Amino acid sequence: MAMKSLLQAQNLVKSYGEVKVLKGINLDVEEKEIISIVGASGAGKSTLLHILGTLEKADAGSLSINSRQISSLDKKKLALFRNSAIGFVFQFHNLLPEFTSYENVLMPALIGGKDDKETKAYVDELLSILSISERKNHKPSQLSGGEQQRIAVARALVNKPKIVFADEPSGNLDSKNAEELHNLFFKLRDELGQTFVIVTHNDHLAEIADRKITIQDGVIAS
Ligand SMILES: Nc1ncnc2c1ncn2[C@@H]1O[C@H](COP(=O)(O)OP(=O)(O)O)[C@@H](O)[C@H]1O
Ligand SMILES: [Mg+2]
Repeated sequence: MAMKSLLQAQNLVKSYGEVKVLKGINLDVEEKEIISIVGASGAGKSTLLHILGTLEKADAGSLSINSRQISSLDKKKLALFRNSAIGFVFQFHNLLPEFTSYENVLMPALIGGKDDKETKAYVDELLSILSISERKNHKPSQLSGGEQQRIAVARALVNKPKIVFADEPSGNLDSKNAEELHNLFFKLRDELGQTFVIVTHNDHLAEIADRKITIQDGVIAS
């Protein structure tokens, strides 16, 4: 089966002051791929993820996601594109403490102007796929770390993004919960066709990904 290229990054360069963090990153991501990104602390993994996720701008190079040239979008269009096409999962879930699981998951859809029946049904479907339906009306403080992170994953998926970026999503979990979360990424790929780019320090996840990318000296080491 021919794979569709979802993201193309060419010669991405990024410096902070005198520090050259990224020195020419080239990366293609295909639909339904799970890519792991590894590298030493400070290698530039988060910087790369933020640039690929359009949260930060590269100094040079080009980035295209879902056939959209990111540099051609003004601020407003970029924010709309990000909300609809890109999902994020971070090491710390950043769930809103005063809202329930269900409300937290629905939030990005509300921000995108969607709170119709279908969207609400999709929230329930996601909670079910992630085996967290019984925690629907709980607030984040009433959830375990693993449950909080699964809610954060559901939240990342609610707008049916083309691609999800995760930055050390299991970095704050014990090994059992980490493994459960990693299994869910593959389940979501299999059941929803979801594409993931995941920065991780977890050797097992890095190895079972479809492709492992190592950032070293500002480039992708072969
Ligand atoms: N906003 C920033 N301002 C200045 N330096 C930064 C900023 N973000 C990251 N850096 C620097 O860029 C380098 C790469 O950081 P980062 O991408 O967070 O690495 P990693 O995620 O691989 O640990 C580090 O030297 C870090 O200190
Ligand atoms: Mg980082």
